[in-house]
Amino acid sequence: MKLLYEKSRPGRRASSLPRPEVPAAEVPEQLRRASPPRLPEISEPELVRHFTALADRTFGVDTGFYPLGSCTMKHNPRVNERVVNLPGFRDLHPLQEEDASQGALELMWRLQEILAEIVGLPSVSLQPAAGSQGELTGLLLMRAYFADRGEGDQRREIVIPDTAHGTNPASVTMAGYKLVDVKTDPRGNVDVDDLRGKVGPQTAGLMLTNPSTLGLFDEGIEEITRIFHEAGALMYYDGANLNAICGISRPGDFGFDIVHFNLHKTFSQPHGGGGPGGGPIAVRERLEPYLPVPAVVREGEAFRLDYERPKTIGKVRGFCGPFGVFVRSYAYIRSYGPALREMSEVAVLNANYLLARLKDTYEAPFDRLCMHEFVLSGRKLKREHGVTTLDVAKRLMDYGFHPPTIYFPLIVPEALMIEPTETEAKETLDAFADAMLAIAREAAGQPELLKDAPHVRPVKRLDEVRAAKRPVVRYRFEQHEDPQGAGEARQLEAQKGA
Ligand SMILES: Cc1ncc(COP(=O)(O)O)c(C=O)c1O
Repeated sequence: MKLLYEKSRPGRRASSLPRPEVPAAEVPEQLRRASPPRLPEISEPELVRHFTALADRTFGVDTGFYPLGSCTMKHNPRVNERVVNLPGFRDLHPLQEEDASQGALELMWRLQEILAEIVGLPSVSLQPAAGSQGELTGLLLMRAYFADRGEGDQRREIVIPDTAHGTNPASVTMAGYKLVDVKTDPRGNVDVDDLRGKVGPQTAGLMLTNPSTLGLFDEGIEEITRIFHEAGALMYYDGANLNAICGISRPGDFGFDIVHFNLHKTFSQPHGGGGPGGGPIAVRERLEPYLPVPAVVREGEAFRLDYERPKTIGKVRGFCGPFGVFVRSYAYIRSYGPALREMSEVAVLNANYLLARLKDTYEAPFDRLCMHEFVLSGRKLKREHGVTTLDVAKRLMDYGFHPPTIYFPLIVPEALMIEPTETEAKETLDAFADAMLAIAREAAGQPELLKDAPHVRPVKRLDEVRAAKRPVVRYRFEQHEDPQGAGEARQLEAQKGA
């Protein structure tokens, strides 16, 4: 498909505006451009077709099943968009005085209260903008807490299981801690024997997601909590997998001291490709003094922003956090009401249904019921037919499905991590399972079909390493001649008021 610049023809316009009746602004000479920017010149129908064609090529959760493990790609209810676009929310200026923004403050306060209840911890900060920033904020709270107790120099280590999401070790390093790796045992739990030797007076805390990235609830969680708390260390809960346990069990009850939420996963919302996120954190009483400012507080019937936290770690994001994400999350949670646990129950049911349909064909490394997602291994296909998990993922695209997360967690060879979410119908799950089983049969009969997949997508196999390491994210004007030639002609055309 050609780029807009390649479709551009001098003098074409998608719209024409009347000449302004006010005099042109005087821009100081030294601030003026020497020549107008090279903007694409294109007619409206061509422009509309261009973007429609691009949209047609894009796959999203509104296009089809998107079982990207650990990402909770669920349906985004349209009512949330209606609510977030209410003028009182949409047009609110972040610096609006408190008296005139009571509705927004009340929504944030209520969201804080609900989140606190969901995880069983008393204090919430809505500020962090994503799960990963919640992680960093939580670790900075740990540092502030231990520094305050005079243990800052002593407690320098954070323990992380070998199944951890990549953001966990990255956050630990960014927060200035040393990373200590702990193994997974044969049932998919944290290996408690390995753990015991690694926790001591030097430990600041544990960072764990439960259920883990294997989609398994850690059966030793009480023992793990005991080990850390007896050593005077703190427990951090990575809430990316909260979709499995909402309304059923609470991280605060099984001993975690700090929790982050991924609002943009658990409570729907457009995300992926860098879309807006929200990563609030909830903490136990003793960590509350260090939370970011401002906090949203209630005084009688009024709501206000409280900056009076002398021990705060400061601000981690502009203003009060990603407000639009708060509105959508609040709407999503309130639409379930007290039945929120149904969300998690159906997510877990859907995942177990798919697991049951697939585990005889693809290997399940741990023979247990899963939570909201599960991990399979494609190593049998590789061993017997030379077909890799990457081939399976690419072939799934021909069947009209977004591939699951692959090659993660790292401890499962040829891993496929599948998360169906609660918003998918049984027919969709069956169609996906049928496709996975058909692909396994193809692997045995026509492996080359998988090797060359995808066959019916607009792009085939890409050089993913090059795309990641050397992305081309701008049009290289210097390599393309300006069809109109630089200079005066264009200058005049631009001034004519396109
Ligand atoms: C287990 C886990 N932890 C943390 C994160 C980071 O969350 P975010 O993408 O919101 O920064 C993710 C994201 O996929 C995750 O799956």
